[in-house]
Amino acid sequence: MSQLLVRRSHRVQPHRPYQVFSLPDDQEYDYDPANPDPIAHINFSQDIDLLLIVPATANIIAKFANGVADDFLSSTYLASTAPVMIAPAMNTTMWEQPATQRNIQRLKADGVHFVEPVAGELACKTVGTGKLEDVENIVSQALKVLSEKTKKVIKENIEAGRNGDFALKNDLSGERLLITVGGTREAIDPVRFISNHSSGKMGFAVAEAARDRGAEVTVVCGVTAVEPPNGVAVINAVSAREMFDAVMKELANATVFVGAAAVADYAPTNAADAKIKKENQDKLILELKKTPDILSEVSKRRKKGQLVIGFAAETNEVVTYAKIKMGKKDLDMVIANDITKEGAGFNTDTNIATILTRVGSEIELPLMSKRALADRILDEILKIRAA
Ligand code: CTP
Repeated sequence: MSQLLVRRSHRVQPHRPYQVFSLPDDQEYDYDPANPDPIAHINFSQDIDLLLIVPATANIIAKFANGVADDFLSSTYLASTAPVMIAPAMNTTMWEQPATQRNIQRLKADGVHFVEPVAGELACKTVGTGKLEDVENIVSQALKVLSEKTKKVIKENIEAGRNGDFALKNDLSGERLLITVGGTREAIDPVRFISNHSSGKMGFAVAEAARDRGAEVTVVCGVTAVEPPNGVAVINAVSAREMFDAVMKELANATVFVGAAAVADYAPTNAADAKIKKENQDKLILELKKTPDILSEVSKRRKKGQLVIGFAAETNEVVTYAKIKMGKKDLDMVIANDITKEGAGFNTDTNIATILTRVGSEIELPLMSKRALADRILDEILKIRAA
C-alpha cells in the first residue's frame, strides 16, 4: 500500500492536521474505465502539499525517475508541483542494484527527498538493508519538509510586500463575506455621470484577505481602478440603485456585510434619455435625489449572527462622525479614516484608520498597507465572534 500524505488546501496552514489519503498500489484508479473522473491525477495533484510514498517499491522509484506515467501514482507525481518524499522498502539486492541506485540519484538531483531504508529482517526473511525506516521517523522528516515549505511561503509573501503570515491562517473558514467595493456612477444623461474618486483598493484588500483566510467572498463591484482578486465571486453594479438591488439579493447568504464602496449619496432625479446639448444653455441645473443607503438597509434587514461593518471617510472630526455613523446605521464596526491625511484615502495602497466597534473599542492604527488594514479588520471580526 502506498500512501500519499496530503492536505486539501492550497495554502500551508501549520496548525491544521494533515489529511492522509491511502492508495492501494494495485488499483489503476486513473485509467480504469469505471473511474468517473478521467483526469483524477490532475485534480488530485493540485491540492497536495507533500507527496509521500511509503513504502516505495523499486518499480515506482524507476517510474518516477524516468517520467513514466502509466498509473495513478506515477501520473500524480508528474502532475504535482508539491515536494516529494520517498521512503523505499525492498529486498537488499534490489536496493543495491545499480539501476535502483541510479534512479535514486537521479530523483535526488530532481529535488526529491528520501528517507533511506535501514538494515533489518526483510519481508523475504533475509537480513540486510531495505527495511522501511520507522514510521515516526518518516513522519518527523515529512513534517520538516512541510515546515520548510511554510517558511518558503512566508518568505515569498514578505518579498511580495505582504505580511509574512498571510495565507497561513484559515480562521475565517465558514464565514461568507459580502462586500461592496468601488465607486458608483449616477447617470446624468447617456454620456455623463456623477461619481467619485474611489479606486476599490480597500474593498478588494478586504476581499483578498478574507479569501486567504478561508472565507467565501462575494464582491458587489461598482467602478474600480483595479481588478478584483481571483477566487472571489464578482457581481457588477454601476449605480447606487443597482448596487442596492444586488446587495439585497445576496444578503441572506452572507454572514458578514462590509460596506466598503463609496456609494454616491445623490443621483440625478431624472437622467436624460438623450445627450443634453449645451446650445442656448449657459447654466445647467441638475436636481439630485438621495440614493438608498445600502448599509443602513442591510443593518435593518440583518439576521441573527450577521455582522454589519461600514467605513467612514471623513475630512474632519473623524472619530466623532464615525461614532455617530456607527450609532445611526446600527453597525458592529466602523473603520474611520481621514482622507486628507497623506497615505490615506483614495487610490493609495496605504491607509491610516481607526477601527471602532459597537462594544466601544477604539483602535487607532498607524499608516499601513490596505492589505494589512484588511487583516486587522478581519481580526476584529474574529474578536466579535469570540465574544
Ligand atoms: N453607504 C452605503 N450606501 C449609501 C451611502 C453610504 O452603503 N448610499 C455606506 C458606505 O459604503 C460606507 C458608509 O455607508 O460604509 C458610510 O459612507 P459615508 O459616505 O462615509 O457616509 P454617509 O452615510 O454617506 O454620510 P455622509 O456622506 O453625510 O458623511
